Amino acid sequence: MQIKFAKKIPARAKGIVLFLYAGALKQQLASVAIPKNLKRQIAKCEKQMDMAPLSVFTLPIVDGGKEIVIVVHLGKKETCRQSLFERAIRAGVRLAAKHKQQHLALLLPDWADDELRAVYLAAFNAHIADFSYLPYKKTKSKPIISCDLVNVESKIPEKQFAHQIALASVVAEEVNRARTLSNAPGGDMTPRVLATHAKEAGRRTGFTVSAYGEKKMKDLGMGGILGVSRGSAEEAQFIICEYKPKSASNKKPIIFIGKGVTFDTGGLNIKPDMNMTDMHMDMSGASSVLHAIAAIARLQLPIYVVGLIPAVENMPSGSGYRPGDILRSYSGKTIEVKHTDAEGRIILADALGYAKQYNPELIIDLATLTGAALVALGQRTAAILSPDEELQSELVRLGQETGDRVWPLPLWEDYKPEVAGQFADVANLGKTKFGGTITGAVFLWEFAPTDKWAHIDIAPTMVAIDDDQLAPGSKGAGVHLLTMFARVYAEKKAHGK
Ligand code: BES
Ligand code: ZN
Ligand code: ZN
Repeated sequence: MQIKFAKKIPARAKGIVLFLYAGALKQQLASVAIPKNLKRQIAKCEKQMDMAPLSVFTLPIVDGGKEIVIVVHLGKKETCRQSLFERAIRAGVRLAAKHKQQHLALLLPDWADDELRAVYLAAFNAHIADFSYLPYKKTKSKPIISCDLVNVESKIPEKQFAHQIALASVVAEEVNRARTLSNAPGGDMTPRVLATHAKEAGRRTGFTVSAYGEKKMKDLGMGGILGVSRGSAEEAQFIICEYKPKSASNKKPIIFIGKGVTFDTGGLNIKPDMNMTDMHMDMSGASSVLHAIAAIARLQLPIYVVGLIPAVENMPSGSGYRPGDILRSYSGKTIEVKHTDAEGRIILADALGYAKQYNPELIIDLATLTGAALVALGQRTAAILSPDEELQSELVRLGQETGDRVWPLPLWEDYKPEVAGQFADVANLGKTKFGGTITGAVFLWEFAPTDKWAHIDIAPTMVAIDDDQLAPGSKGAGVHLLTMFARVYAEKKAHGK
């Protein structure tokens, strides 16, 4: 989809999406840049409209060269927060697509003082709304070809809007690619296929990728990944992505780590059926890390970034790892397996250990780690846990700014006894059933080579819910956040901070 900024509705746009606040319709329409006859037709429908936030009204047009007007209501202006604005854009685009509109004009509401930011967000959200997962469908729906963001009153030069749209489009395209990758069925998206995909992404956007197989991992002593993978017929992979432009202003890399469990059955502690259905998306941390690095490479940010992805399939089998087994991780610390379904933290332990040799400036890991994070936070934000308050608050702030939200849970020394092992150094399960997300993070903390590290549990935001106004399936959570983090980091470095 091509997105452009325009100061009036271009002739090519056949479908018009209009955003209205609660209040007198006529007054609002007065300042909207659409032909008078359209205004009259819309005004006639006032009584039929439900003005509640996010309710929509569709008006087929018979004259004037336009086909349809879609009205999306925003509720009261004072209460129209960012999340509502974002979802309104998505709802409008999705409805237009449902009506088979291929050329849209979005008449942007007067929403924020910062017009550039509003256009950035509109472009980003229009892009992620224009997504459906189609590789396995015979009939493909027609894509939206163009989407013009119209703001008649703006005094800002169009070039500046174009720049925001270009930025937003790159990130959104990579979000959509991460979604496609996560949505792929477990049978077709094995660790090796994931590694091949990573290599393709590297070639496409400009970063290097290497992948270790099981033999190499054995030589290196990655007992965590090999342990979890033992029950699977698919070979585990350890994928390393390196983006190191000549212009890089940091010697020490920032490292992103992504959980890459291509299917999580739970292993011998097998999951009940209901809990297993979405587990082909248990590599969503990996997809997001991969495509955040792809976005960073496409934006040519002058920073050194490394991505580490342990990729395995967690299967029950006669050769599978057992509760009670003890695994030796890359760092040398031993892990007591108390539950084979707490596999994510075991493979991440090896990746965190491996990160040490880069002497990283900081580490952020993304993982669909615990169902407990959904219990704690619901499905509208991911969880963040970090011993570094500054890093954590920066990520919380950028989460709000991008709409890719994260919210803190505590990570304190007090919790450490929860993961003390009986016969090994650490146990992969807490002593009680409480605070499962914290226990998971505390376990990872034992392996983090630096406290400049943040763990983001994206289990809560792994899939879209109805209120998100997005296609069902993966959301690509974390791509926008990590990319924005890298942009801000690059800015800081450029100013010598
Ligand atoms: N992949 C799951 C967590 C998950 C649950 C992700 C729901 C997305 C949606 C993880 O490997 C897991 O099974 N965790 C267990 C941990 C427990 C055994 C300590 C869980 O959350 O139940
Ligand atoms: Zn699991
Ligand atoms: Zn898992």
